Amino acid sequence: MAEFPKDFLWGASSSAFQIEGAWDEDGKGMSVADFNSFKRSDRQADTKTASDFYHHVEEDIALMAQLGMQIYRFSIAWTRIIPDGDGEVNEKGIAFYDRVINELLKYNIQPFVTLYHFDLPYALAQKYNGWEDRRCVYAFERYAKVCFEHYGDRVKYWQVINEQNLMIRVDERMNITEADPYTADRQRAQMDYHMFLAHALAVKACHEIIPDGKIGPAVSSTCTYPLTNKPEDVWAARMNDYYKTVYCLDMHYYGKYSGLYMRYLEERNIVPHMEAGDEEILQYGRPDYIALNYYRTLCASYLPADEEHPAGMRVYRGNEVDFDQYGTCRDEKNVNLQASEYGAQIDPMGLRIVLNDYYSRYHLPLLITENGLGMADTLTEDGKIHDDYRIDYLSQHIQACADAIKDGVELVGYSPWSFEDLLSSHQGFRKRYGFVYINREDMDCRDLRRIPKDSYYWYQNVIRTNGKEL
Ligand code: BG6
Repeated sequence: MAEFPKDFLWGASSSAFQIEGAWDEDGKGMSVADFNSFKRSDRQADTKTASDFYHHVEEDIALMAQLGMQIYRFSIAWTRIIPDGDGEVNEKGIAFYDRVINELLKYNIQPFVTLYHFDLPYALAQKYNGWEDRRCVYAFERYAKVCFEHYGDRVKYWQVINEQNLMIRVDERMNITEADPYTADRQRAQMDYHMFLAHALAVKACHEIIPDGKIGPAVSSTCTYPLTNKPEDVWAARMNDYYKTVYCLDMHYYGKYSGLYMRYLEERNIVPHMEAGDEEILQYGRPDYIALNYYRTLCASYLPADEEHPAGMRVYRGNEVDFDQYGTCRDEKNVNLQASEYGAQIDPMGLRIVLNDYYSRYHLPLLITENGLGMADTLTEDGKIHDDYRIDYLSQHIQACADAIKDGVELVGYSPWSFEDLLSSHQGFRKRYGFVYINREDMDCRDLRRIPKDSYYWYQNVIRTNGKEL
């Protein structure tokens, strides 16, 4: 029987762009996420309505309360608070999140707020290409302060940036339009560095403004297995984790790039511009906890550099996040694992490995802010959604959490993805993650009715028994 500490935090997660809808209501500005979803010629889902959380706040939060959630991890849209990113504060945007936060607190659900989940104000991308310019760092710091000052009396759990380490690889999300891979990587390195500065300034501001607040990053975690037991493949697997995730955690924790990462930046000739005083700023960034998002594991083999492919050159095959890096690692399939219909290699044991790994590296409390299975659910004739596959996935991963806790890991909470169905990155509403079904299709918003799935009732019991009954 799985065992969890008495004060373990059970929750569920979402993000602003993916659920809110009302994309331009009450003064909201356009975000890069809005812009990209509108411009796609192959647009496969109406993104302006999403799950229409904006007009279902009370109803959805009542469902969260019935589920028994103790935390709700959601994000604030920067473009509701400051529509153009660095100009006037929009009082209606402030009021919207007051409404959300107060409603959550009415049911004793702790708001767990992410400041930035892939939705940079588009105006900043137009003005100075967003994170490429140092002004974006200060715009973010100001936005973070507005949030801390206004909501800090009620919100004690904060997350700065969702998955900086994954977002930075996705050109569209960073507004990188440069076709030449070398120039794109140079821009990327500068943007990444600026986000680290922004993270550190936000951590500092949070600690100053909300003394009893807790703040940290949410990384997209990776756990990579070597394709064989050849030493080079073992090295490749470690480096795959290192260049995709660990470099980012190290920077947050130590406030500087490690030798390995500097080697990559130097060999690739993309060391970002840094200014005097930055070292001190970066030291503020040490988080109070580490949150991780976990879906799957990876596999890698060694990939030597050659004349055409210098060390550090990255190539994406198949998807936009799993790159091969010459001189280090090549992404491989793990034949020992089953993949979801969308290619994610399902692996609860990998979660136990990641939790042990991060805890032994940093000795900070850990929290899971995303974990889940994206599937095409069916609303059956009895008006229900029988998602046993999701229950299987989640129960095995919660068991892995219990094992990690037994191993000595300080895991303080579990907040899977997602509370309700939402816009997935590429598959709109065809790929669903929620405990609550939203009755809409990609291009037909139907009645947006909320229908708890079988997994909702199952999770309700998990929370009620504090994880004993999986
Ligand atoms: C995480 C993101 O990387 O993965 C979420 O933080 C996202 O925003 C989730 O929805 C699942 O990925 P996808 O591509 O299925 O939406």
